[in-house]
Amino acid sequence: MDLPTLLTDRRMTRSFTGDPVDLDALARSCALALRAPTAGNCGGVRMTIVGSESIADYVERATDAEWRAASRRVAGLARAGALVVVTSRPADYAARYAEPDKAASGLADPTAWPVPYWHGDAGMATMALLLLVQDAGLGTALWGNFRHDARVLEWLGAPEESLFATVFVGHPDRLDPPSSSLRRAVPAPAERVRRRGA
Ligand SMILES: Cc1cc2nc3c(=O)[nH]c(=O)nc-3n(C[C@H](O)[C@H](O)[C@H](O)COP(=O)(O)O)c2cc1C
Repeated sequence: MDLPTLLTDRRMTRSFTGDPVDLDALARSCALALRAPTAGNCGGVRMTIVGSESIADYVERATDAEWRAASRRVAGLARAGALVVVTSRPADYAARYAEPDKAASGLADPTAWPVPYWHGDAGMATMALLLLVQDAGLGTALWGNFRHDARVLEWLGAPEESLFATVFVGHPDRLDPPSSSLRRAVPAPAERVRRRGA
């Protein structure tokens, strides 16, 4: 599929069939996605693939029992074929910007960054992954990091990393309950493009 079509067609898939996903192919997509730009060539983003047998374990750590009991979506999401947990390593960015060619930036201290670009790097690689997975005929759902990140990172064995998001990957069953976010009236993409002096 061409890139404009992929971008136009991409939508969150929040319910899956339970059919398996080729984890080797997914690993290749992750490696390709990690060719995304990275500040100072830090390469500080990691993608951890979680197989279907461990998805329930992940969901238990990332959510609360009350949320799971009330959720309309948890069963459909749990039928994903795999997850990709996207994390970044802020310390790698601080170390890189302490190197001689970057030291003048004053960014050896992570709290000095006007924009914490380890999150930007993670976002760019994540978007690339969403498109690559869609191009392979599968669907994706992105879960942001809104709670329990320490618990998830501990479970991943990477407590020093920063949890960016989790991508559910699988075969869409097209039974997604509609997202309330989609009822919001947001300006159309073309209306969000500005021009100055052109
Ligand atoms: C940073 C970020 C966090 C998100 N977190 C969640 C989430 O936790 N759960 C969820 O169902 N969707 C989540 N989404 C998906 C958005 O709700 C979705 O992208 C938006 O409603 C537009 O729908 P579309 O992607 O299908 O076009 C997240 C998206 C982003 C970019």
